[in-house]
Amino acid sequence: MNKYFAVLWRLKELAMFEWSVWWFAPQQVWNDCVVIDVADEQVDRLHDFFQHLGWSVKRWRVVTAEELWEILKHGTLLGVTDTALWAFCKKNYGVKRFKKLAIHHTDKEIKEWWIELIALWYELYGHVEHYQHIPLYEAIDFEKPVRGMQIGMMPAKLTHQLISIACAHLSLHWSPVTIYDPFCGFGTTWFVANALGYNTICSDINPTPTKQNLPRRNNQLFATDALFTVFKHDVMQPFVAPFLQHVSCIVTEWRLGPIMAKKSVQNLTRQQLQEKITDIQTMYTTFLSNIAAHPHCSTVPIVITYPQWTFFEADMSLWFIEHAETLWYTVQQPSQLYMRNDQQVARRVFVLQRG
Ligand SMILES: C[S@@+](CC[C@H](N)C(=O)[O-])C[C@H]1O[C@@H](n2cnc3c(N)ncnc32)[C@H](O)[C@@H]1O
Repeated sequence: MNKYFAVLWRLKELAMFEWSVWWFAPQQVWNDCVVIDVADEQVDRLHDFFQHLGWSVKRWRVVTAEELWEILKHGTLLGVTDTALWAFCKKNYGVKRFKKLAIHHTDKEIKEWWIELIALWYELYGHVEHYQHIPLYEAIDFEKPVRGMQIGMMPAKLTHQLISIACAHLSLHWSPVTIYDPFCGFGTTWFVANALGYNTICSDINPTPTKQNLPRRNNQLFATDALFTVFKHDVMQPFVAPFLQHVSCIVTEWRLGPIMAKKSVQNLTRQQLQEKITDIQTMYTTFLSNIAAHPHCSTVPIVITYPQWTFFEADMSLWFIEHAETLWYTVQQPSQLYMRNDQQVARRVFVLQRG
């Protein structure tokens, strides 16, 4: 048995939810880290899993104090999360310089050139050798030729997690995997899914922004052999496109509602808010009814986000969950909302499955 570790992404419960739907059960969870015991023959598989999952920010081998000798003999600079570990390495291994790092932060210099260690517990240390796909996430979030943060593009990291949660719910016969996003917008799902090697089908009532982002596909970060199709479709209408029979799972998000600056929220009357909530409910419930009526898509897992306004006291998605249950979907959700501190809108993540 070998011990491996991973640092959980900052939204821990969401990260643990993604992890828990996969095969490897965590052995120990310590502060922000998960430590996993893995037999030799499973190490490659663990590595593959990590490549395809989004829940951790950095990871790899757990080492003992004796093994640190080997690791530190070439290192003159060390990235550490606490100064006690630095003092220990200086005293025992003669390491000359260090940089203090926040546990969730990735330092480019340390990542590319030096050694990063995390103190786990008594005489066990995490040697970081792999990091999350930061260049991929940044390229998707900030470098699409056509994009629009103001209308609620999905963050690439979250999209990666949604895709991996969806794939964990597939039955084994799905190969190759095809992911469908019926509100593809700027193509976030497509970019992430293709980069992970999954085929993608996208549709939108206005597919132009996705099409305008097509040349971006040639960027080497996204280059895989995965297939991509985009077509125009209004989710308020029945789903009829013949190639939807290839869909393995659906990963999507409509929109988080109107722009919600603190000031504009204060000016909205209760009735105006309710009207906006009704629009969201109508869109999500009609979409679900139409997809549930499709002979093939009705049985595929759906991973979908639903808006939750942080200033609004009630759970905005209750009606949607009830509707899903009347259509015979089972509904799972991580307890944690996806949100940033200063934002007025958060996302609930739902996994819907039938049968
Ligand atoms: C906020 S964007 C989605 C962004 C996308 N999730 C992304 O990350 O790039 C919402 C999208 O829903 C689409 N939309 C609105 N009404 C629709 C409908 N009835 N059927 C299909 N798409 C619709 C809009 O055209 C818009 O592209």
